[in-house]
Amino acid sequence: MSKKYNVGLVGATGVVGETFLKLMKENNFPLSELRPFASEKSKGKKTSLFDAEIQVLQDGCFDGLDMVFFSSGDEISKVWAPKAAQAGAYAIDNSAAFRMSPDHALVVPEVNGHLLDEMTSAQVIANPNCSTIQLMMPFNALKKFGLKKAMVASYQAVSGAGKEAIEELKSQTTKKADTSEAKPKVFTREIAYNCIPQIGGFNSDDFTSEEFKIMNESKKILAEPDFLVSAFTVRVPSLNTHAEAVWLTLDQEVSRDEVIAALKEQPGLETFTEAQAYDTPKERDGQYDVSVSRIHKDVHDPKTWIMWVVGDNLLKGAALNGYQIAERLIKNNFS
Ligand SMILES: NC(=O)c1ccc[n+]([C@@H]2O[C@H](COP(=O)([O-])OP(=O)(O)OC[C@H]3O[C@@H](n4cnc5c(N)ncnc54)[C@H](OP(=O)(O)O)[C@@H]3O)[C@@H](O)[C@H]2O)c1
Repeated sequence: MSKKYNVGLVGATGVVGETFLKLMKENNFPLSELRPFASEKSKGKKTSLFDAEIQVLQDGCFDGLDMVFFSSGDEISKVWAPKAAQAGAYAIDNSAAFRMSPDHALVVPEVNGHLLDEMTSAQVIANPNCSTIQLMMPFNALKKFGLKKAMVASYQAVSGAGKEAIEELKSQTTKKADTSEAKPKVFTREIAYNCIPQIGGFNSDDFTSEEFKIMNESKKILAEPDFLVSAFTVRVPSLNTHAEAVWLTLDQEVSRDEVIAALKEQPGLETFTEAQAYDTPKERDGQYDVSVSRIHKDVHDPKTWIMWVVGDNLLKGAALNGYQIAERLIKNNFS
């Protein structure tokens, strides 16, 4: 009989946690035990799939687990992910807590999965930011032409801010239709029929934390410290799946055929070549692969390529990337 694994899931009731459960079910994950965790208010309830009883975090709670998937925010990961690793489990962390730490790998398996193959002991592995992960697909494909600079404008769905944000868009949309007042709680402004040029808090340079994640994490994942990335992130009233408009400047002048051929070779990326055949968040929703469309050369600079990158933030942007990390660990490190 093939080996089965004991898996912990911190944040089992959240949108990322529930997507992880769905992936395990859909892909017949070789599960021996599922140990789900959430806050005190969820204690004793059952998970949406697998019917496992939800626990709260406490000393010794990770004993006997092979891996623990974290999707409960930075503060919980900072404290509990190292404890999972100490207990002998690989901790796959969706938060930002360890992403830029020089001691931790930041992994997109199709891009730098070799880092997983080199691991010999349980540790914390960081899952990148959702809007960063999807950009890694075309950037990695075109890396062979030299990555000089990227300008990114994002159009990010409310699910990126968690389950309460989804409810906020749904309820504001209904209330607006009734013309009654709908006060924002999760977002800084009303999100229904609107868009908000702020994701995360502002830093001293007036960039937001989401923008900084894209700018810094991209360099680390691609191992391209001189690649200049600048981002402007916007929350839009779509329920799920992020879109990004990208201006990517390469070191070399290359033909459109060469760009398309390189993009088509990238695993995890679907490439649309005809101008009218662009993808939208609604169409990409629920798909594992990221898409790239509207691929055209800038009229002002023959080394700059403009494109539209769309990816399901709950799948490749979060749970699927973590699931793929787990699959690769199983293939290489547990067998
Ligand atoms: N949403 C995305 O697209 C996305 C993408 C990439 C990364 N992430 C990251 O993934 C994490 C989760 O995001 P989300 O969108 O799934 O948020 P969410 O829907 O708000 O879920 C948060 C989860 O954390 C749990 N939680 C809260 N306090 C806890 C505690 N003290 N102990 C254990 N669990 C606790 C919640 O449990 P209760 O239900 O009991 O409150 C819930 O299961 C965040 O770090 C986020 O930045 C999210």
